[in-house]
Amino acid sequence: MSYYRVLGLEKEPFSTSPDPDFLFMSRCHKAALFRLQVALDLRRGMSVLLGDVGTGKTTLSRKLAKVSDKDKNVELHMMLNPFFRTERQFLLRLAALMGVRHAARTTAFDLMENIERELFRRGVEENRTVILLLDEAQMLPDFVLEILRVLLNYETNEFKILQLILVGQMELLPRLSRIPNFWDRIALKQIIRPLDHDEVRAVIRFRLEQAGYRRSQPLFTDTAIHRIAGHTGGYPRKVALLCHNALEYLVMHDRQQVDVELVERLLAEEVQPILA
Ligand SMILES: Nc1ncnc2c1ncn2[C@@H]1O[C@H](COP(=O)(O)OP(=O)(O)OP(=O)(O)O)[C@@H](O)[C@H]1O
Ligand SMILES: [Mg+2]
Repeated sequence: MSYYRVLGLEKEPFSTSPDPDFLFMSRCHKAALFRLQVALDLRRGMSVLLGDVGTGKTTLSRKLAKVSDKDKNVELHMMLNPFFRTERQFLLRLAALMGVRHAARTTAFDLMENIERELFRRGVEENRTVILLLDEAQMLPDFVLEILRVLLNYETNEFKILQLILVGQMELLPRLSRIPNFWDRIALKQIIRPLDHDEVRAVIRFRLEQAGYRRSQPLFTDTAIHRIAGHTGGYPRKVALLCHNALEYLVMHDRQQVDVELVERLLAEEVQPILA
């Protein structure tokens, strides 16, 4: 059912998938993207992007990938799933991602050599910016962090040959600070914070516009938005979920606008997690 059409929408406005076209550039998201781009431009090596669950880290990573895609001298490789049991497994994935050739039964040592050789060719001889972005980096095993540390040592007099971006939840921070020689090498540490009230209002408007809403009557009243901002604490995924439920309610009950009573009703009916 294209539920959104009756509301004057062409697309789903409050999907929770990380679509960069629906990313509102809040003060924090803007700063994060800008600073990441500067670090990459200068080839400064390692950047860390942190934030609580559902603050927009993956979506911002995709936005960066989209922007980088336009630049012929930049290649961005993204690893979304950080589960590795052995060093060799990680290096095989990295080689596949970067399109590095290797013998079928190659060792971790040989893989590392091939990757470094290829990095030198692309990064120095061809003067390209090679970026590896690891999402969910809080899950990375220590042996992967150790490999990353070694790869970061790889540099010319002017720049690092591999640009690393670690994206993860806040628990990544204490892990990185425990590894000797790692912390000081992080060129950029950026935290994405939840949205403030005005930004929640702006994100709702922005996502509705992106979904094609053109009617003059606002779909959400001001007080409804205020309540949504208060309840969600400005966490974008929570905002998206609640707004989606509110629009679903409008369609189900043949109504035209989300007001604060409707939000209250949804909150009262919300299924709460069971804490053991
Ligand atoms: N600035 C924003 N503007 C619009 N939507 C946003 C924004 N930030 C996050 N979202 C939305 O919130 C949802 C969650 O975003 P995302 O998956 O990027 O968060 P995350 O920080 O990677 O979460 P996790 O810690 O669970 O991996 C998505 O629907 C995304 O579009
Ligand atoms: Mg994510």
